[in-house]
Amino acid sequence: MQYLAKKSPLHADKSACAIVALAATKKLDEQTKTLDQHCQGVISRALKNGDFTGRLGETLVLQTPEGSPHKRILLVGYGKPKALNIIAYKKIITACANRVKTTGAADVSSMLCTLPVSDATPRILTRMHIMLFSDTFYRYDHTLSNKTPSPKLKRIKLMCTTAAELKDIKHAMPQGIAIAAGMLTTKELGNLPANICTPTYLADRAKQIKRGQRKLSVDVLNEADMKKLGMGALLSVSAGSAQPAKLIAMQYTGGKTGSKPVVLVGKGITFDTGGISIKPSNSMDEMKFDMCGAATVLGTMQAIAAMQLPLNVVALVAAAENMPGGKATKPGDVVTSMSGQTIEILNTDAEGRLVLCDALTYAQKFDPDVVIDMATLTGACLVALGHEASGLMSNSDKLSDELLAAGHSTGDRAWRLPIWQEYQPLLDSNFADMGNIGGRWAGSITAACFLARYAEDYNWAHLDIAGTAWHMGKNKGATGRPVPLLTEYLLRKARTA
Ligand code: BES
Ligand code: MN
Ligand code: ZN
Repeated sequence: MQYLAKKSPLHADKSACAIVALAATKKLDEQTKTLDQHCQGVISRALKNGDFTGRLGETLVLQTPEGSPHKRILLVGYGKPKALNIIAYKKIITACANRVKTTGAADVSSMLCTLPVSDATPRILTRMHIMLFSDTFYRYDHTLSNKTPSPKLKRIKLMCTTAAELKDIKHAMPQGIAIAAGMLTTKELGNLPANICTPTYLADRAKQIKRGQRKLSVDVLNEADMKKLGMGALLSVSAGSAQPAKLIAMQYTGGKTGSKPVVLVGKGITFDTGGISIKPSNSMDEMKFDMCGAATVLGTMQAIAAMQLPLNVVALVAAAENMPGGKATKPGDVVTSMSGQTIEILNTDAEGRLVLCDALTYAQKFDPDVVIDMATLTGACLVALGHEASGLMSNSDKLSDELLAAGHSTGDRAWRLPIWQEYQPLLDSNFADMGNIGGRWAGSITAACFLARYAEDYNWAHLDIAGTAWHMGKNKGATGRPVPLLTEYLLRKARTA
C-alpha cells in the first residue's frame, strides 16, 4: 500500500473514493457542504431520503455523477460528536476499511485523520488509520492453496486542511507504516501452524528481521549454551520435545551508547500440549498461539528498527515446544533456574513462567532501564478480563501508568492487577524454593508473583495477553496485539510520539 499526505479540501482533490465522516446530527460541515455541491448534491439527497443516519460505524457508498471530483463517496457515521473517542475511532476506520474492500476503488482520499476525537491527536489518528487499514486487509494464506488476490486498493491519501495538520500527518505516516508492518509480522507468526513455526523458525525469522538493519544484531543461544548458563527452568520445558529450545537475543542500538535499554521479553511456546500434565483436546490447536508474546516482541523490533527510534532496545525470545515424551519433565521434578532458585514443577502446563524466569535473569546482563515481558500466560486472565484488556502486573507504578496510557491511546488497552506480597505464600513448596503453580485462585496474579521473584532488581512489567493475542471462534486468528501498545510506549519514551 502506498500512502500520501495532502493538504487540500476534498472538493479540490480527485480519487476513486473520498471518505467522509458524518455525525449522527447529520449536519454537514462547510467542507462537506462544498463537496456535496461539487457532486450535484448526492450527499444531501442520501440524507434527505433517509438512507444514512450517522450512527457510529454505519457506512454508505454513493456513486457520484459524471464530472464529480471523486468517483464515489464513502460516508461513515461517527455517532454523537461528544462520544467520539479513540475506541469509537477504531470502529469507524475498521468499518471504512471493510467497506472499501468490497468496492473496486484503487485509491482513496480520507479526511479521517483530522476528526475531532476527544482523547487523541492527529498523529495518533494517522498511525491508527494506517494500522487498522493494514490490519483489515491482511489475510492469512501461507498454507492455503488459494492465495489471496492482491487488493484492488493501492493508494491511500491522508487529507487535511491546515499546515499544522499536514505536519503531524507527515510525521506520523512513516511510523504508522512501520508499526503496521510489524503487526503483520506478529499476526503471521501467530497464525502459522506449529509444524512450521518452531523455535528454530522463530530464530530464523529474527535473523531475517535483522537483515539490512545496521542498528540491529541477533544472537541465538542453543540448548548447550543455555545449559552452560544454568537455565534449568527453560530447558525443563523443551525436554520432552524433538524441537530444540532457542533463546533469541536481538539488540537494537538506536540510542546513545551507554544509555540503558528497554528489554522486551516474549514467551515463545510454539506449541503447548501441557506436557505430562496434558491439556484436554478441545481447542488444543489454539495452543499454536502460545508464542504470541514472542511474535509481539519480534514485530515490535521490526517496527522500531524501521522507525529508527533513538532508543536502545533488547529483545529476548524464550522459544520452546512443550511436549510429553520419554525425556519430558514430570510433575514433582525439581529444577534449578539460572538465578539459583529451585522450582518444584507441580504442573508441566505452567510452562510459560519457566521459560520466562530464565529469560528475566538473563535480562540482567543488559543493565536494563525497564523490562517488559509479554506472555499468553494464564487461562485465568481470560476469566478475569475477557478479550478486551491485557492483564498488567508490575513492580513499578510509573512503568504501569506509562503502559496503561499507551494502551489507552491506541485502543489496545491493559488493566492492572495487584501482585502484593500477601500472594507469595501461595507458591510455597516443601521440596523447592517455590512451586510453579499457586492453586485455584488468582491464577494470573500467582503466575506474575512467580515472575516477580526473578525481576526484583529492575523496573518490570508483565503483560498477560492470553485473552488479547488471538481471536477465538469463527474469526480465529492472531490480532497483532499488543504491538500498538508497546510501540506507542516506545515512541513516547523516545519522545517522538
Ligand atoms: N498457554 C497457557 C495459558 C492459556 C490457556 C492461554 C488458554 C490462553 C488460553 C499456559 O501455559 C497454561 O497452560 N496455563 C495454565 C496454568 C495452570 C496450570 C496453573 C492455565 O492457565 O490453566
Ligand atoms: Mn501451559
Ligand atoms: Zn502456555
